[in-house]
Amino acid sequence: MTTTWTPASWRSKEAKHVPTDYPDMAALAGVEQTLRGMPPLVFAGEARRLKTLLGDVAAGKAFLLQGGDCAESFKEFAADNIRDSFRLILQMAVVLTFAGGKPVVKVGRMAGQFAKPRSSPIETLGDVTLPSYRGDIINGMEFTPEARTPDPQRLMQAYSQSAATLNLLRAFAGGGYADLYNIHRWTLGFVNDSPQGARYHELSEKISEALTFMAAIGVTPESQPDLHRVEFFTAHEALLLGFEEAMTRIDSTSGEWYDTSAHMVWIGERTRQLDGAHVEYFRGIRNPIGVKCGPTMEPDDLLRLIDVLNPKNEAGRLTLYGRFGHDKIAGRLPALLDATKKDGRNVVWAIDPMHGNTLTATNGYKTRPFDRILSEVKSFVEICKAEGVHPGGVHLEMTGQNVTECLGGARALTEGDLADRYHTHCDPRLNGEQALELAFLVAEKLKEDRVAEAVRAAV
Ligand code: PEP
Ligand code: CO
Repeated sequence: MTTTWTPASWRSKEAKHVPTDYPDMAALAGVEQTLRGMPPLVFAGEARRLKTLLGDVAAGKAFLLQGGDCAESFKEFAADNIRDSFRLILQMAVVLTFAGGKPVVKVGRMAGQFAKPRSSPIETLGDVTLPSYRGDIINGMEFTPEARTPDPQRLMQAYSQSAATLNLLRAFAGGGYADLYNIHRWTLGFVNDSPQGARYHELSEKISEALTFMAAIGVTPESQPDLHRVEFFTAHEALLLGFEEAMTRIDSTSGEWYDTSAHMVWIGERTRQLDGAHVEYFRGIRNPIGVKCGPTMEPDDLLRLIDVLNPKNEAGRLTLYGRFGHDKIAGRLPALLDATKKDGRNVVWAIDPMHGNTLTATNGYKTRPFDRILSEVKSFVEICKAEGVHPGGVHLEMTGQNVTECLGGARALTEGDLADRYHTHCDPRLNGEQALELAFLVAEKLKEDRVAEAVRAAV
């Protein structure tokens, strides 16, 4: 590992999944230069605030809820989509807060989640082979040579879409939409008449009663402005390092480097090599960061990665996302939890129950069975409890739209239903109903914990 870090020092390392087949590399460099002159999307102080909140998660005092599209797209960029994902996160957070009795740290996979690692660099349809689709920030999804050619102008479009998305999210979070008094209005139309909708309605009634009681004793949005807004953060996989480098700036208050493209960024399962470009880039930025830990992660490799990514053992700096698969988690997670715990590593452990549970349906759709997703989440909580580690959070691919991409759930979606509304640009997402069902399940688990804690405190 080199000792001098710069935002560009990753360039001397192997950068997996970062495209080098732009027809005009000078044009790409020109766009990156333009991006260096654009305003940052987030302020370093906000990233530090998120780090503090994640420090609470690491200490077992809060829970992380992170979710959004697998890949945002230029085509589906619309205010309604942003609002629907935002309110789904709010609804889930209410369910989790109410049951767990702990604050929920809300992070969207939004406003920058554009670059995708792919299992194969090429795709063949019939007798035509083209480069794979790599996310809208790189090339287009359409199966034509023109669309699949990387285009530097896409970096500018991703920047501007991220800015507009973040602007709307900030408005919703601070402008009254997220006011707890609006709790009944967050329900998505299609979720309303589902079993989850009914459960949510029941819960929001209880919260409304509590708010009425609090107002009667003088706690109102006027006296407590926090009832009126939420803190909401953004995150994405920082895969396209040229873009992230261009957004990396020195914070004038601390004199430290921050990736200002999002509050939090993470390293994917395919790019977490200790000597690779992504780890090199991440070690120098001061944002809270994440790393995906899949079924090949060994405890020693993990500790070495932590040495590099969180050398000062700072709470909230590093979140580890297990993503093993429902049938592999029990064979892998305990040793990793044991390693970080024994070694006193201050990390958040969270679960991504999506990426280890993907399969191809008999009709060719890439999908995920909802019961396997639930099963991996349940195993995660149980294994964490058994190891004495706080089950810190969930990281989900989901959308507020009424899509049919994952099998099962309360409406028992079948393979035959997948074709109805299969809109994802990459991996299958939970729809609003499935996501809420998952939140209720996690809530039950958190409640068991809370009750057990209260019993222990009472004896
Ligand atoms: C993702 O989060 O979209 C992703 C590609 O995950 P992983 O790196 O865990 O495969
Ligand atoms: Co994905």
